[in-house]
This record gives sequence, structure tokens and C-alpha cells, in this order.
Amino acid sequence: MKTLLLNADLEHLEEAAALLRSREVVAVPTETVYGLAANALDVLAVRKIFAAKGRPQDNPLILHISGLSMLYDIAERVPKLAETLAERFWPGPLTMIFPKKDPIPAETCGGLSTVGVRMPRHDFTLRLIERCGFPLAAPSANTSGLPSPTSADHVFRDMNGRIPLIIDGGECRCGLESTVICFEGDGIRVLRPGAVTAEALSELAEVRIDGGVLSAVDSGKPVLSPGMKYKHYSPSAQVYLVEGDEERLFGFLSEKVEMGEKIGVLCASGTALPPGCIRLPYGDTAEERAARLFGSLRKADELGCAAVYVERPSAQGLELALYNRLLRAAAFRIIDLGGIS
Ligand code: TXA
Ligand code: MG
Repeated sequence: MKTLLLNADLEHLEEAAALLRSREVVAVPTETVYGLAANALDVLAVRKIFAAKGRPQDNPLILHISGLSMLYDIAERVPKLAETLAERFWPGPLTMIFPKKDPIPAETCGGLSTVGVRMPRHDFTLRLIERCGFPLAAPSANTSGLPSPTSADHVFRDMNGRIPLIIDGGECRCGLESTVICFEGDGIRVLRPGAVTAEALSELAEVRIDGGVLSAVDSGKPVLSPGMKYKHYSPSAQVYLVEGDEERLFGFLSEKVEMGEKIGVLCASGTALPPGCIRLPYGDTAEERAARLFGSLRKADELGCAAVYVERPSAQGLELALYNRLLRAAAFRIIDLGGIS
């Protein structure tokens, strides 16, 4: 199959919509990461998403909607709190989980009785959903297990020959996938942290952070969000989180370079690095880091790095989302160099 790349001009809306109506998969930009979209209500179209990504069948897809009326078509019960959150955070990087209605095929939701829903903040994609008139199921548009794509080029590398069309909307603003929450009693539980932070959510509800956010999920046990149990966001390079003062980090990295290892580093711009290390694009604010993380992990592979060492993030604000992705990319390996009181 030939994969066409078109920019996100509204003149390309109809071409994308026509493919989606004819049960095809189209990669679309969102504010978080690129999505691999198809008609969520059509099981044949949804199967093509799983095939293109090589995604495990029990990992449910998020449904993307363009207006609240679509939510009531797919969710069985919508708590008042969900309406409040929608008003505050939609369109935006927040996915809410509801009991699902019948028209959604079981395969779309990985066999679960629930459905994750979000309204993306991207003009082209919102209009596309509106034009189609059906919700778009869309996981991140990467090959399963690789870092999520934050540019059309990343999507092209993973999906060339597998899907007919990629819409290029430039670099994704957030760079990390949406916050995923479910409702619990009067409050909410964060299953996957994202740009809508636990702190922002706690202004409107009582918030609990699921244990799976910062720890490995036991592969035999049931989990609230099936995506948490899979290997994720991993480049071929081995990723390690490191913690320690600047001097010890310098010494540690120097040894690696001396051993002839090609290494990439993600750290603050002011941190001194020994010659021979590759400083990968990162940034000094959590927002910049979130926007660049996945691109830099992909870049490490392009440059042939054997390993990438990343400054360990905190668990506060947006850094919780960075930490969650990095722990998985690093298979939970943390190197404590000491020296930090
Ligand atoms: O920002 C995003 O959410 C991006 C863009 C494209 O919208 N999408 C995305 O989809 O990250 P995906 O499939 O890569 O990740 C969806 C996560 C998975 O961990 C999945 O297990 C979880 O959300 N999820 C989806 N539906 C769920 C449900 N009904 N119950 C529990 N977890 C669910
Ligand atoms: Mg994904």
C-alpha cells in the first residue's frame, strides 16, 4: 500500500473523511501525540488499526469525539463530575472512562465493558470527526512498544506501507499521551498521568493516583488500564534513569564514554557533560521535556546510541507523566549515584 502524506489544510478534510468512511485507517495529528484513526463503530476498520500497530487485542482504544452529543451516544452513564471536567478540560488531553453503550464493538474496547473517551484539541482532527459523524478510535500511531509519534515523520517511519494516509499537522504541542482517568465513588482515579495534571484535577474532585502509574504491573494480575502491563515507549537503545549530583554524574558518564559506549543523555541544559556524550534535545521545563522526550528517544536510535541516561523526574505536576513514561522506557531501571541530600 502506498502511504500518502498531506498537510493539515482544511482542503484535505474530505480526502481523509472519504478514506475513513470506506473503513480505512488514517493517521491524524492531535495536541498529545499522533493517532491512528478509524471508525470506532466498525469492527473491520478497528481491526485494521490493531493490525497496522501490531497491538495486543486486549488493549482497548480511546474514542475521539467532536462534541458532547457524541459522548451520550457511546457512554451508558455520564456522571455530573464528568460533565464538569469536560467543560473545564475538553477539547484537551483528558480521557475519561465510562460504561460503554452497545453500538461500540467489543473489539474496539479490548473486550471491556467500558470505553475511554476524549475530545482532542486539534482543529483539523476535530473537524474531521465532525464531518465523519462517527467517533474515531485512535491509539498512538506508533508500532506497538515504540515511543509514541510526535511528528508526521515519526508516523511515516512506523506506518509507511501500512496505512493509506498520514495528515501532517506539525509537531504535537504536549508530546505525551492524554491523562486517563476513571470515576470512583465521588472522586477519580488517574490510570495514566498526562498534561492535565493530578493537581489541576484535584481542584474539581478528589484524586487518587493508581498504583500502576509508578510501579510495574504484575503480568498475571488484572489491571484497570490494560495498556499499563505492556512494554512501552522503548527505543532499541537501553534507557536508564539516573539520580545523583552533577559531579558524580559527570564521573559516571565519563567512564561509559571511556569504555567506548555510544551514549545519549537527557538532562538540564546547564548540566556539564563529558566530551563524547551526545546531548539529546530535552529542555529545562517540564513542558519542553514532555514535548521532546519521545522524539529524543527515537533520535537516540537514529544516532546508534547503545544507551540513554535520563535525569530522574520528580512525581509532581507534569513531571509525573514524564516519570511514568520514562520508568516504562527504562524497564524500571534507576541508577542512584548518590550525593543528593
Ligand atoms: O493522547 C492520547 O490519548 C493518544 C491520542 C492519539 O489521543 N492516544 C493514546 O492511545 O495514547 P493509546 O491506545 O496509545 O493509549 C490508550 C491507553 C491505553 O493504556 C489503554 O489501555 C487505556 O488508554 N484505555 C483505553 N480505553 C480504556 C478503558 N476502557 N479502560 C481502561 N483503560 C483504557
Ligand atoms: Mg500508545
